[in-house]
Amino acid sequence: MKVLIVYDSSTGNTEKMAHAVEDGVKKAGVEPVLKHVDEVSVDEIPQHQGLILGSPVYYGLPSWKIKKFIDESVKYHGKFDGMVGGSFASAGGTHTGAETTIIALNEMLLVHGMVIQGSSSGSHYGAASVGSPNDSALEACRKLGERVGRLVKNLKK
Ligand SMILES: Cc1cc2nc3c(=O)[nH]c(=O)nc-3n(C[C@H](O)[C@H](O)[C@H](O)COP(=O)(O)O)c2cc1C
Repeated sequence: MKVLIVYDSSTGNTEKMAHAVEDGVKKAGVEPVLKHVDEVSVDEIPQHQGLILGSPVYYGLPSWKIKKFIDESVKYHGKFDGMVGGSFASAGGTHTGAETTIIALNEMLLVHGMVIQGSSSGSHYGAASVGSPNDSALEACRKLGERVGRLVKNLKK
């Protein structure tokens, strides 16, 4: 069982989060595959049981590269029903678009028919950071990865 983590990052903040998400997926006993959006093809998605998207916040939304990646995935539309999804985002400030970006990422995954588990204990929609992720943001990322990994395992039972 494998989870693909696709992220964009220009100045390294989202990348740090991606590594923490990777640790969480591993902790759940599932294999994480970490790819910068510049280095991944949509043709890799079908070999995975989960897809986690990470993006910097650009004008309150995901980066165009992540949107392009998802737009290209239309060739598989209908094939990802029931796959597990999750999202994380890095913002420059507080209350400046992290949640709207996470929701936008989740929306794209939902249109693919994916299953997204929220969290009742903070970071409800996915993991967010302000600038370089601090310890609590990194913990939220690990928990996100673990949640996705566990759900992948549970759905495959
Ligand atoms: C074009 C552009 C637009 C941005 N728009 C926002 C924004 O709307 N809200 C915000 O909080 N930060 C915004 N930022 C800041 C980035 O989201 C922030 O620096 C982020 O941590 C960068 O992630 P990275 O290091 O992974 O590239 C913007 C940055 C750029 C370059």
